[in-house]
Amino acid sequence: MIIQPRVRGFICLTSHPEGTAQNIQNQIEYVKSKGKIANGPKKVLVIGASTGFGLASRISAAFGSDAATIGVFFEKPAAPGKPGTAGWYNSAAFENEAQAAGLYAKSINGDAFSDEVKAKTIELIKQDLGQVDLVVYSLASPRRTHPKTGVAHASVLKPIGVPFTDKTVDFHSGVVSDITINPIENEEDIANTVAVMGGEDWKFWIEELKAAGVLADGVKTVAYSYIGPELTYPIYRNGTIGRAKDDLEGTVPALNELLNDINGISYVSVNKALVTQSSSAIPVVPLYISLLYKVMKEKGIHEGTIEQMQRLFAERLYTADGQVALDEKGRIRVDDWEMRADVQEEVAKLWLQATTENLEEISDIKGYRDEFFHLFGFNFPEVNYDADSNEVVNVPSIT
Ligand code: NAD
Ligand code: NA
Repeated sequence: MIIQPRVRGFICLTSHPEGTAQNIQNQIEYVKSKGKIANGPKKVLVIGASTGFGLASRISAAFGSDAATIGVFFEKPAAPGKPGTAGWYNSAAFENEAQAAGLYAKSINGDAFSDEVKAKTIELIKQDLGQVDLVVYSLASPRRTHPKTGVAHASVLKPIGVPFTDKTVDFHSGVVSDITINPIENEEDIANTVAVMGGEDWKFWIEELKAAGVLADGVKTVAYSYIGPELTYPIYRNGTIGRAKDDLEGTVPALNELLNDINGISYVSVNKALVTQSSSAIPVVPLYISLLYKVMKEKGIHEGTIEQMQRLFAERLYTADGQVALDEKGRIRVDDWEMRADVQEEVAKLWLQATTENLEEISDIKGYRDEFFHLFGFNFPEVNYDADSNEVVNVPSIT
């Protein structure tokens, strides 16, 4: 069938199999171009492996370090006449490439928050890998059904305390307007957001993996966080999602204690703002990203998810001398280039100037749009979008 983009607000309802495969191919080529990661991981579990940072982590481990990988994600499989989600096609393409390169790759498609998927994953590790030496935790979800209480928690993206008014952009039309986001009205919104995006599920995973004996001596685990500039603090770091990130970062000491007797260690890596399915849903952030991209590209320091994760692996998690550079709060920072004073000063200046009329000129809104479409396999010059697509991609390694 012929598959074209069908956009509703900040989501694209369709994904292109050959285009997503091109996206995977490009990411693999990038990782290969950087050479092998010395002392890299060998057996890796990635939770949230089908899109964004988790997918890029999986590609970095497999093609940068010849790692066997197990991916966990929640995606819709392809069926005749009914294309699957981008994450499904990404994973299918990744597994085909990995297997062609002689690398072990299998995936579990299901709810990572559930006890059942954790048990299934443990069984698969026992059966095929024995143990894993790296666990990447990269879930981004609007909801979580708690496995112990059965309560369905929904996260919210809101300020805490006072209403927040600032600029935002509709990245499809390029219209810049003011948006006011009202603060939460009850504290439960914070607790729910923490329940979904905080550290509890990461802890449940590590506890259960450890109890099952499937974590190797010296295991590492890493989860991803964000800080960003002051201008997004009200909606991001000081808002409900920021409370969840505080909670995620606050889980590190407990995990380190848990992993101590097997010489394991846990990290949170603070990553750069990037176009992903999750970040395009946050008001104000797309305008910030389009200005940030402009400034970082001009300075020659722009990175996408794959550049970020390859650098995280090669220059932070797996260094030649085994030292992992951390900030004063114990976090890995690969948002270091985003947060450089010269970058932030220029973005802040452009932020004040940005209007519908000058947006194309002063920002990289074109690059934003392009990356948004890339997430779903569209806008790749190598792909003919008028041609028939093979929407059914059969991958027995995804169960
Ligand atoms: P993403 O939406 O691209 O990826 C989310 C992944 O989680 C997908 O693989 C999806 O299938 C999986 N997932 C969601 N719900 C699931 C469930 N119930 N069971 C199993 N899998 C499920 O998101 P992303 O932007 O790559 O975010 C990953 C992490 O990185 C998040 O913690 C996010 O806060 C963080 N981060 C993102 C940015 C950014 O700008 N995008 C910046 C810094 C940090
Ligand atoms: Na991810």
